[in-house]
Amino acid sequence: MPKNTLFEPRIEYVSTNKKTRKVKPVFKTNDFCLYKNDCLTVLSWLPGNYIDMIFADPPYMLSNGGITCHAGKMVSVNKGKWDTSKGFESDLNFHEQWIKECKRILKPEGTIWISGTLHSIYKCGYLLQKLKFHILNDISWFKPNAAPNLSCTVFAHSHETLLWARKDKKARNTFNYKQMKTGDFPEDKMKALNKQMRSVWSIPTPKPKEKEFGKHPTQKPLALLKRVVLASTKENDIILDPFNGSGTTGIASKIIGKRKYIGIDISKEYIDLTIKRLKQIMNQPNLF
Ligand SMILES: C[S@@+](CC[C@H](N)C(=O)[O-])C[C@H]1O[C@@H](n2cnc3c(N)ncnc32)[C@H](O)[C@@H]1O
Repeated sequence: MPKNTLFEPRIEYVSTNKKTRKVKPVFKTNDFCLYKNDCLTVLSWLPGNYIDMIFADPPYMLSNGGITCHAGKMVSVNKGKWDTSKGFESDLNFHEQWIKECKRILKPEGTIWISGTLHSIYKCGYLLQKLKFHILNDISWFKPNAAPNLSCTVFAHSHETLLWARKDKKARNTFNYKQMKTGDFPEDKMKALNKQMRSVWSIPTPKPKEKEFGKHPTQKPLALLKRVVLASTKENDIILDPFNGSGTTGIASKIIGKRKYIGIDISKEYIDLTIKRLKQIMNQPNLF
């Protein structure tokens, strides 16, 4: 089957099979498809060796009643019910289930990115190794405008980690080295022009205009996802995000162009937010 026709039949397959009615996409264009469901359900219906790149920003499991600082005010750290921890073993088991499914659906040369903070990233890193992925990089996403720490008892948290791994150690993954070296990354004060892209990326948290249609509590900046998509995919690739949130991965794919996107989120509110963001970018492709 020619590569650029792969997306459509599979989506039809998912939506027309009787047993899969619950995972029918709630939104679909010729290059953008959204499922409102538990990612474990949707992933289980996707065929093996199908996806080129996965970006996953799973729940941090940190919403347990703490406090943080937002716009100079003390606020609850809680992101939502989806972000509460069910205990170490249960959280680890959840991560193992979705990462295992991601491995099955990735092509051998396909890669997965997993982002997280100290609450989740070590579990995910351990599981990538246990499930025999080949870890390529651990990126430190430094946030130059991170909120101060109110307790003044620890260092102010100002970075997140992005693990990048390939399914099969022997396969050759996409890495657009030259574009990373010579591209323009005006938001990153640490990236020198025409020097190799390093593993510390300085990118501010999302701009207000990226949150025009509503706020997602853990929305990633478009500059971060544009870099991920640009670095690790090529034209006609299928990109999947099992924790779509406000759809930043999909919007970045749309801006870069000539990619297909599948997003999954358990929340209707966030799916609706993604559709609004997509329609905006379709009407104003040069907005960001
Ligand atoms: C950390 S956020 C992702 C934010 C996203 N990267 C963005 O830029 O907006 C995690 C998302 O996963 C969703 N979620 C949590 N558990 C899920 C599950 N089991 N299946 C699908 N989505 C889930 C939540 O609703 C939340 O939007």
